[in-house]
Amino acid sequence: MNPQSRVAKHVRDLPFSGIRTFFDIVATRKDIISLGVGEPDFDAPGAVREAAIGSLERGETHYTSNRGDPGLRQSIARYVSREFGADYDWEKEVLVTVGVSEAIDIALRTILNPGEEVLYHEPCFVSYRPSILLAGGTPVCVETRREDEFRLTRPMLEQAVTPRTRVLMLNFPCNPTGAVLSREDVEDISDFCIRHDLLLLTDEIYAELTYERKHVSFISVPGMRERTIFLHGMSKAWAMTGFRIGYACCPFDISENMMKLHQYAIMSAPTTGQRAAAEALEHGEQAVAAMVAEYNRRRNYLISAFEEMGVPCHTPAGAFYAFPYIGGFGLSSRDFAMRLLETQNVAAVPGDAFGRSGIGFLRCAYATSMGNLREAMKRLSVFVGTLRS
Ligand SMILES: Cc1ncc(COP(=O)(O)O)c(C=O)c1O
Repeated sequence: MNPQSRVAKHVRDLPFSGIRTFFDIVATRKDIISLGVGEPDFDAPGAVREAAIGSLERGETHYTSNRGDPGLRQSIARYVSREFGADYDWEKEVLVTVGVSEAIDIALRTILNPGEEVLYHEPCFVSYRPSILLAGGTPVCVETRREDEFRLTRPMLEQAVTPRTRVLMLNFPCNPTGAVLSREDVEDISDFCIRHDLLLLTDEIYAELTYERKHVSFISVPGMRERTIFLHGMSKAWAMTGFRIGYACCPFDISENMMKLHQYAIMSAPTTGQRAAAEALEHGEQAVAAMVAEYNRRRNYLISAFEEMGVPCHTPAGAFYAFPYIGGFGLSSRDFAMRLLETQNVAAVPGDAFGRSGIGFLRCAYATSMGNLREAMKRLSVFVGTLRS
C-alpha cells in the first residue's frame, strides 16, 4: 500500500504540537533548566496518594460505571455547586473523563455538525484548533492582545461571529497567557452567547489558580448553565496530571450523548484516579491553598525579574505561566527560544506554538522551584544582554 494513503488525509495534514517539536530538541540536551512544562512541579498531596494506594490495596482494580464512580460524581456536583455557583444532577449531568483532554474531544464531537464554526481565542492551549478540526468543525480564531492583558472582549467576538457560528470555546484562566476575565467580562461574553444563541464550551481547568481575585465561572451567570458545557479536572490545582481525571458538567441532552462517545472509546476513567480525585475534592483545600501561595510567590518574583531586565511582561493573574514579549530583540520566538537553549541551557516554549498571535512571545511556566527560577532568570538576563550589545 502506498504509505501516503495509509493515514487519513485530515490526520496527515495535522501539524504536531509546537511544544512537542521543541521538547524533542530539549530531550537531547543535559542539565537544562526547564520553564517549559505545563504541569505542577509538586507531587499530588499525600492524602490523595494514600487514597489511591488504599484503593489498590482493597483490590479496586476494575471498571467503574461508564459515567464515573457515583461517589466521585457526587463530590464533583457538590464542589461545582460550592465553588462555581451552579447545581448539576450527579446522576445525569456529570461525566468523569480521562482528563480535560478527553472532555474537550468528546464535547466537540458531540455538538458539532460538519463545517459549523467554533469561535475560540489564540494564544490558547495547543489542542483546541486540532480538536475542532478533528470534530469536523471550522475553527474561527479571535486574537487576544498584550494591550488588553490577553483578555477576550465582546467587541472582538462581535467582529468574528457569523450565522454559521455554533460554539464559543474558552479557557480562562488561560494557558499560555495567564489572563483571567473580570465578572464584567464574563457577563458581557455570556450576554453575547445568549444573544447569538451559541453553546459555550468553557475549560476552567485553572480556576483555583488565581492570584488577584477569585475566579468567576460562566456557569454562575443566570441563563448560562443551560447552554454551557463546563470542563474541569484534577491535573493542575491538585497536581494530579498522572491520575488522568477530568469531568464535564452540562445539561442531560448533551451529557447523555457525550456518554455514548465516552462509552465506546474509553469505557471509564481510571478507577484508581477516580478514588484519588474524590479525596482531593473532599479534603484537598489546604493543599491547594499552599500550592497557590507558592505559585504566587514565584509569579511575583518572575514579574519583577522581567521588569528588572527590561523585558515587557503583563501581569499574569492566573494559571502558572508568564508570557513575556521578546519580539523587540529582532529574533523570531523560535530562534529566541533555540538560542536561549543553546547558549544558556534554559528551555521555554516559543509563543507561536499557541497560535499566530503568540508570535513574539515566550511561555515561561513557573511550575518549578524558586531556585530554578532564580537561576533561569539570571541566565535569561545574560542572554538578553548579549542580544542588546
Ligand atoms: C487549558 C488546558 N486545558 C486542558 C488541558 C489538559 O489537561 P488534562 O491533564 O486534564 O487532560 C491542559 C493541560 O495543559 C490545559 O492547559
